[in-house]
Amino acid sequence: MQADLEMVKALLDGSRKVVVLTGAGTSAESGVPTFRGRDGLWKTHRAEDLARPDSFANNPELVWEFYNWRREMVGKCKPNAAHEALAEMERQIPNFLLITQNVDGLHSLAGNRKVVEMHGSLWRLKCTVCAHVREDRSRLPPVPECPVCGHLLRPGVVWFGEPLVPGVLRLAIEQINSADVFLSVGTSNLVQPAASFYQLAKDHGAVTVEINLEPTVNTGFMDFALHGKAGEILPELVTGF
Ligand code: OAD
Repeated sequence: MQADLEMVKALLDGSRKVVVLTGAGTSAESGVPTFRGRDGLWKTHRAEDLARPDSFANNPELVWEFYNWRREMVGKCKPNAAHEALAEMERQIPNFLLITQNVDGLHSLAGNRKVVEMHGSLWRLKCTVCAHVREDRSRLPPVPECPVCGHLLRPGVVWFGEPLVPGVLRLAIEQINSADVFLSVGTSNLVQPAASFYQLAKDHGAVTVEINLEPTVNTGFMDFALHGKAGEILPELVTGF
């Protein structure tokens, strides 16, 4: 693995444009639970009860209880060495984009500015009726209401069965198509469309790299696979750039 790590480091050092896709494993060392691991969120909470638009329509109290719990838990977490290294990568590589499936906001807290939150954000609130949207990290009432029209607010995240935030997929595809290195970090690659981004990158000539605790369904298709903790591997890739 050391030889591969050195090769990836050299590739990054000489690259024109890097696109990084991150998933829940990137935040694991901050204490944010992943979705599908041993203690993953979807093992203890039934996704269909909590992350679907119709569940929210039927039982907003239950869905808000889950999201208020996640906001409180994630609000105590700090960026880890993986986030810090990706922020450093953005500072070093002029043409850089980070696409995250995470809704915890930790990449921005670490200092990344070029971030696409493809599944939205825990810290965004959207009115279910009018156009009110706001960023808000404060403690919320059990079922928050819109200050403009008085209707229900909902978390600004993408639920199962909902389309991505408008424009996000087009932007991601455009950027991946012109990248020369594509890094996939801390994702099980089980949720589309993110799981197929590596294929787009490959089709357009990028070198593809997976950094994950364990092999994923995509490992065999990547040019390099570095297995271990993102918080240990990523800092090694950006030192001495
Ligand atoms: P998963 O929980 O499916 O996968 C997390 C991956 O991170 C696993 O492959 C772990 O092995 C790996 N991992 C854990 N700790 C790690 C560490 N310290 N360093 C590196 N890797 C580590 O999470 P995602 O792939 O992000 O969507 O899940 C994708 C989407 O599924 C989520 O955005 C969410 C969920 O349903 C929505 O809610 C719309």
